[in-house]
Amino acid sequence: MIDSYYTPPDLASRLINHIRKKDISSIIDFCIGDGELIRAALKKWPSTKCFGTDISDAAVLNVKSLHPNWELDRCDFLDENSLDQSNIIINNRNGFDLILLNPPFSCIGGSIHNVRFKGEDFKSSTAMKFLVESIKYLSKNGCLYAIMPISVAYSQKDKKIWDILVSDYKLSILEIPYGNHFKNCTPNIIFISLNDDSKPLITTKLKKISINGYSSSIFRGKVSMCDVKNNADGRPLIHSTNLRNNQIEGLSLNVQNKLSELKGPAVLIPRVGNPNPNKICIIPKNKIYVLSDCVLGIKTKTLKDAKAVKSCLIENWNDMNDLYKGTGARYITIERLSDFLGIKKS
Ligand SMILES: C[S@@+](CC[C@H](N)C(=O)[O-])C[C@H]1O[C@@H](n2cnc3c(N)ncnc32)[C@H](O)[C@@H]1O
Repeated sequence: MIDSYYTPPDLASRLINHIRKKDISSIIDFCIGDGELIRAALKKWPSTKCFGTDISDAAVLNVKSLHPNWELDRCDFLDENSLDQSNIIINNRNGFDLILLNPPFSCIGGSIHNVRFKGEDFKSSTAMKFLVESIKYLSKNGCLYAIMPISVAYSQKDKKIWDILVSDYKLSILEIPYGNHFKNCTPNIIFISLNDDSKPLITTKLKKISINGYSSSIFRGKVSMCDVKNNADGRPLIHSTNLRNNQIEGLSLNVQNKLSELKGPAVLIPRVGNPNPNKICIIPKNKIYVLSDCVLGIKTKTLKDAKAVKSCLIENWNDMNDLYKGTGARYITIERLSDFLGIKKS
């Protein structure tokens, strides 16, 4: 897990502009990359002592050559032995006034880590693990500013730790910067702070998820199952009953209906019926199917994006499930889904 999507300068400056704390004599980034976060902070506090660690030798050597007066170490931040051997950690037992972080995200739905925090054991995402481990190195009045994947704010995986950060560490969401900020990678991100009197932009409880960077639109199938006519010249028909075990299974009908065709990559979910995370499936790139009116398709630009959206929906299944309403067969509307996912209707 290296993740070398370095923070672009404009994004780094935007994060630094949120910092309220004034007296800062030391700054550290435990995943320093090419040092952009610290460079941005130095514009505000030019005489501050700067520290950085990274798992990558190449990254550390590069920053050393750019900034010979910064203290830098090669260190695996998730490895206690590596931390114990870092001179930066050994020589700065009182911690740092400002911790800056853009940790590896390891993409949505990815790895689960064990975290010991405040004497309790938790599970967390990769980014949350980096955040929680960083807290140990705050000075008495130190604060932390980080770029995090938006999923840490709503996923079940990180919920327990998130709630502790809100109650005990003044966690604030400062901004949700929309757009594609990282080369070849489009995670949805948030800026957060801990232990500063920052002005939160919004609530720390996100009820919506945002897959804005991954998906362009939502498509509803138009073929009613009552009117289906099998036609060998048509395309395979997908009905909600064909969505099983996260696979498209048991297709038996071909239908001609151009208006109801969907070309992959896309993520399918049932529109009506008994919703269930096993019914979330992917249409691969360039495959074309006809959808019944009981199926919705979330179009994506790439197969990788489709996989990210699928993981995101599964990870947030409890909230997704709440979107299916109705007294008889429960159903979801394009409006409710678009609003929840933060994407446009088509
Ligand atoms: C997303 S980049 C961010 C770099 C930099 N903080 C920035 O904002 O541009 C993540 C960095 O984390 C480093 N990294 C990955 N795993 C690490 C680990 N276990 N310990 C320390 N650094 C790690 C990578 O080498 C990479 O430089």
